[in-house]
Amino acid sequence: MSSNDASQQRRAETDARLPVHVAIIMDGNGRWAQKRLLSRILGHEKGAEAVRMVVRTCRELGIAYLTLYAFSTENWQRSKAEVDGLMRLLRRFLKTEMPEMLQNNIRLHVIGRTEKLPLDVQQVLSQTIAATQANTALQLNLALSYGGRDEITRAARALAAEVQAGIIAPEDISEERVASRLDTRGIPDPDLLIRTGGDMRISNFLLWQLAYTEFFVTSTLWPDFDREQFLKILDDFRTRERRFGRV
Ligand code: FPP
Repeated sequence: MSSNDASQQRRAETDARLPVHVAIIMDGNGRWAQKRLLSRILGHEKGAEAVRMVVRTCRELGIAYLTLYAFSTENWQRSKAEVDGLMRLLRRFLKTEMPEMLQNNIRLHVIGRTEKLPLDVQQVLSQTIAATQANTALQLNLALSYGGRDEITRAARALAAEVQAGIIAPEDISEERVASRLDTRGIPDPDLLIRTGGDMRISNFLLWQLAYTEFFVTSTLWPDFDREQFLKILDDFRTRERRFGRV
């Protein structure tokens, strides 16, 4: 059976319990490079290929949302060379992937403090978001300059301002209203979180949204994460019984 046939068959079998929203902490680029005595940025470059693979696979399987932790609020503390390299990579990725996003009906969305990104990156992001906004098959959410605590703090501030202005009363603040002030408003919470690189941490990613998400941690370093392993994790997800706190 060709890998295409196999994936068609798998799709037919898994449609019923496919996650609607997959979130990924893409860790291990630095270690991947270090092991080969290469610069960290080469690890990120190789990591960008794995990004292309997961985007294509999600699109092909019919997963509706994919959220990738591409740059955290803490990542600004890395060396200037590494931050510049990541920004360069991001610019290049957006430019080269735009045609495929358009062709494949993929919509780009960004979460995080995008105003902190270099101006030219902000521009190419805005262009790609605008060009893909009517697309409906897969929504790709890039977390950029993103931190979960920062996101919740901004939501709290926005709600406090509404209370102060007399628009709402403190008792009007419900979980739904908090969620509606987050960068992920309108997006269902992730069903599945994958973390590569082996660490058992959330690292300030989607702190509010991961409340009932199934976690899958693999020691595979992100640049080595391949389609076969991704499909295996999706298979594993099907077998998990989700109780959402109920018995
Ligand atoms: C963590 O690995 C990864 C990052 C900080 C950046 C993620 C970026 C990419 C996968 C490539 C570019 C992304 C896009 C969307 C084009 P690490 O450097 O912390 O690895 P380490 O833990 O081994 O040091």
